Amino acid sequence: MRFGGLLANHDVTFDIYPGEIVGLIGPNGAGKTTLFNCISGFLRPTAGTVLFKGENITGLKPHQICHRGLARTFQITQPLRDMTVLENVMVGTFCRHPLTSQAHAKAVEILKLTGMWEKRHQMGSELTIPDRKRLEIARALGTEPDLLILDEAMAGLNPTEIHDAIELVKTIQAQGITFFIIEHVMEAIMPIADRIVVLDAGRLIAEGPPSEIVRNERVIEAYLGEGRHVKRKEHSS
Ligand SMILES: Nc1ncnc2c1ncn2[C@@H]1O[C@H](COP(=O)(O)OP(=O)(O)OP(=O)(O)O)[C@@H](O)[C@H]1O
Ligand SMILES: [Mg+2]
Repeated sequence: MRFGGLLANHDVTFDIYPGEIVGLIGPNGAGKTTLFNCISGFLRPTAGTVLFKGENITGLKPHQICHRGLARTFQITQPLRDMTVLENVMVGTFCRHPLTSQAHAKAVEILKLTGMWEKRHQMGSELTIPDRKRLEIARALGTEPDLLILDEAMAGLNPTEIHDAIELVKTIQAQGITFFIIEHVMEAIMPIADRIVVLDAGRLIAEGPPSEIVRNERVIEAYLGEGRHVKRKEHSS
């Protein structure tokens, strides 16, 4: 993906297999969100191919990709502010259930699974950051994806909330859903990921199991090299 003179993603080739949890890490500005945008149809890549379940989905619209079973959350959370939590999730469930009664029933199931049931009548605009993050996952899950891609679903959460978010990912994975997760919180992603993909300055610099990635010299250099910082900025307000 090229933005004028900037190559935001270059030579990024990797696979995700059914049932896996794959983590995507890299310093700020490495190109992680851009890669998600290319995969989920929010950007049309300037070169290269995205294959999903063996089919070429490059350049399809986000809703077409969603219908094929690939759903995403946003780094900057995007609740529909004037709708309740229940209605927000139904925006997702209408993807597969055109009848309101069925969309409602599916949304109820997902609200219970994601721990948002008690908050179903709150407006999107009233939610705290942890609830906004959770609603992102619930709404995406409402589209009944095979692959769920999460963009920093745990940023800005405290340790208890991170623990709960990890448990939620494991619960969803147990239902047969595959995950691709951008995460800066290493304590969150390393224990649950089967594999980690690392981007730095738009390039894929490493790929492998977490135990190898934490010892990889290029990865350590990318995070700790001269002029770099591991500070996090919170995008979620
Ligand atoms: N729509 C765009 N137009 C121009 N440049 C862009 C656009 N989107 C992203 N970029 C640039 O591409 C590079 C990668 O940005 P991206 O948001 O993908 O990084 P990231 O890895 O998600 O970073 P962070 O960890 O801060 O979220 C950055 O230099 C960014 O400024
Ligand atoms: Mg990002």
